Amino acid sequence: MVTAYYHDDKDTPENFTDAHNSGEPVSLAELEKIGVLYYNVKTTEELDSLASKRNYKNRDVVNLNLAAFNNDIEAYTAKMKQFYKEHYHEDEEIRYIVEGEGYFDVRNKDDRWIRTRLQPNDLLILPAGIYHRFTLTSELKQVKAVRLFQDEPKWEAINRDLGKNSAARTEYLETISA
Ligand code: LAC
Ligand code: NI
Repeated sequence: MVTAYYHDDKDTPENFTDAHNSGEPVSLAELEKIGVLYYNVKTTEELDSLASKRNYKNRDVVNLNLAAFNNDIEAYTAKMKQFYKEHYHEDEEIRYIVEGEGYFDVRNKDDRWIRTRLQPNDLLILPAGIYHRFTLTSELKQVKAVRLFQDEPKWEAINRDLGKNSAARTEYLETISA
C-alpha cells in the first residue's frame, strides 16, 4: 500500500535509499492537487481498463536491482544516481509496481520533497512537467514495474540543473497555480 510523507531532506550519496520520513504525512488529496494520481490496481483487467480509459496504448516491464546489471556495481550505481537526479518529462510518467518497492519523490508547490513509497498493486501517475526522482528502498533494493505510455516512449529526462522550462513545464505550473 502506498504511503506518502514529507522527506526529511537529510539524504546523502550514501543513505538516499533510506526512508527519510520527516514524520509529516501527505494525503492522496494533497498529491492530487499537484497533479499526482494514485490508483490501487489489483488485477490485470483493472490495469487494462485504466490504460484504455487514459489512452495508454503501450507498456513494458522493467526490473531494477543489482542482478539486472549482472552484479556490475558500477553500472548499477550509475543508474541509481541517474534516477535520483531531479528531472521532469514532457509526458506523464506512469508506473505500476509488480514486485519489490520504490520511492518516487515529487516536488510540492513550495518545492518541498514529498516521498511516496510504492509497493505491489500501487500505480502512480506523475504529470508532465513535475520535478521528481526515483530510488529503490534500502530494505529490498529491488523493483519490478510496468511502465505505461501513450505513444512512443519519450524517456528524455530534463534535469533540473539545466534550468530548462519547456512548454510541458510551463503548462504544469499553470495547472497547479489555479
Ligand atoms: C524515470 C524515473 C526514474 O524517469 O523517474 O524513469
Ligand atoms: Ni522520471
